[in-house]
Amino acid sequence: MTLPDKKVFIKTYGCQMNVYDSNKMIDILAPLGYTPTERPEVADMVVINTCHIREKASEKTFSELGRLSLFKKRKQAIGQDMVIAVTGCVAQAEGEEIQRRAPFVDIVVGPQTYHRLGAMVKDVLSTKKKNLDIEFPVESKFDFLPEKSLIQGVSAFLSVQEGCDKFCSFCVVPYTRGVEYSRSVSDILAEAQRLVDHGAREIVLLGQNVNAYHGEALSSNKINENLNNIGTQTECNLAGLLKYLDKIENIKRLRYTTSHPLDMTQDLINVHQSIEKLMPFLHLPVQSGSNAVLQRMNRQYSVDDYYKIINELRKVRSDLALSSDFIVGFPGETDRDFKQTIELIQNIEFAQAYSFKYSIRPGTPGSLMDDQVEEHVKTERLEELQALLKQQQKNYNQKFVHQKLPVLFEKQGKYKNQYVGKTPYMQSVHVESKENLIGHLKEIWIAESHSNSFKGQLMGDM
Ligand code: SAH
Ligand code: SF4
Ligand code: F3S
Repeated sequence: MTLPDKKVFIKTYGCQMNVYDSNKMIDILAPLGYTPTERPEVADMVVINTCHIREKASEKTFSELGRLSLFKKRKQAIGQDMVIAVTGCVAQAEGEEIQRRAPFVDIVVGPQTYHRLGAMVKDVLSTKKKNLDIEFPVESKFDFLPEKSLIQGVSAFLSVQEGCDKFCSFCVVPYTRGVEYSRSVSDILAEAQRLVDHGAREIVLLGQNVNAYHGEALSSNKINENLNNIGTQTECNLAGLLKYLDKIENIKRLRYTTSHPLDMTQDLINVHQSIEKLMPFLHLPVQSGSNAVLQRMNRQYSVDDYYKIINELRKVRSDLALSSDFIVGFPGETDRDFKQTIELIQNIEFAQAYSFKYSIRPGTPGSLMDDQVEEHVKTERLEELQALLKQQQKNYNQKFVHQKLPVLFEKQGKYKNQYVGKTPYMQSVHVESKENLIGHLKEIWIAESHSNSFKGQLMGDM
């Protein structure tokens, strides 16, 4: 039987977990005859995979829906239709509100139940009824997601852990993604092998709290001889998981994100020395440099703890590139608190970082706190902090100019014969080459440093 040729447009907001989920949704929809398109106006189905983390991110859902409703009307006017699905964290948090404000939406499905998306689409097509599914099911979606993956790249995301039990007082993630859940080692290794078989050379392990990973260990009869030293305990932590992945031939690089300082254990720190494939780049959000603010944020570590972790990491891997997230204007943040954040940045020196104004999220403890900081103060602080981070990033990158770096090439650039790859430290590198470089690890001479990327020249094979 040939499948109908239908098009699906997926728009992804938010974090890498959402990118991973969107790819899986394409895999789920493929057996129903849907192939991806970049053009929403011609699509038979549109999925908006949403993010709830800050107010601005959330609002995008409704403005995007406004635009889509016009496309849907146009299609209906010529006797066709468009199935509209809202997925992700806004769907989870505001599912009923979406149905009320945007009645033309056919499907609302949260991050824990999107493995049912295929069945929901079939139901909508046959009954025209609206579908809402935002429960936290007893089964794990990972047991139901398709194994076969259509979208593959040189650098592939692999979700190993989901959800969060930390309940930082500013954050919606524990409410939208639910409690912490780790996949089993055997599941993860099987998925990693499939990714590699389809051309992946770098695996990026994903989790809202990836270093809290504690999945079911391999049963002893599955442990192959050269992995024996990793142990036969019933649970495996992230350091153990990385050791297993290290043994997979053809994986050239490993990364993991996002980590919480509280779960940065010594054995995880140690694998930054012992596993050569583990790249010297770590995203370890600190949020603030003030103990008083960290406490109100419920981050469960002090500034000193953070310094200690960084010291230990730099002891085992002196060239480690550090990245972080910062929130300015958390309730009660004084000028002095903010100054302490600036001092922390000056002391640590980050290779790159993300920073945000505190955004009140309904239902979180932070939204009920007194002393909300005025908007103009948040703006001023963010500008000062970002100027410093930008300068640090520039200084950091400048050090590599006229040096050689190993670069793993992931895709074609905008121009003919141009390829784009990543250094171990996460900088993008643009290189011209007549030979197709995708999937290859090459030694590159860094010629120039731009704001977010390098221009490089090919030196030879690694
Ligand atoms: N699990 C990660 C962060 C996930 S959310 C961690 O614990 O570090 C990504 C980033 O969004 C956070 O690190 C934080 O800096 C930012 N963020 C989360 N909630 C926010 C809010 N209400 N306002 C502003 N920024 C927020
Ligand atoms: Fe949110 Fe905190 Fe959990 Fe990170 S650790 S996802 S910031 S609650
Ligand atoms: Fe956003 Fe949900 Fe990720 S709120 S940051 S898409 S976990």
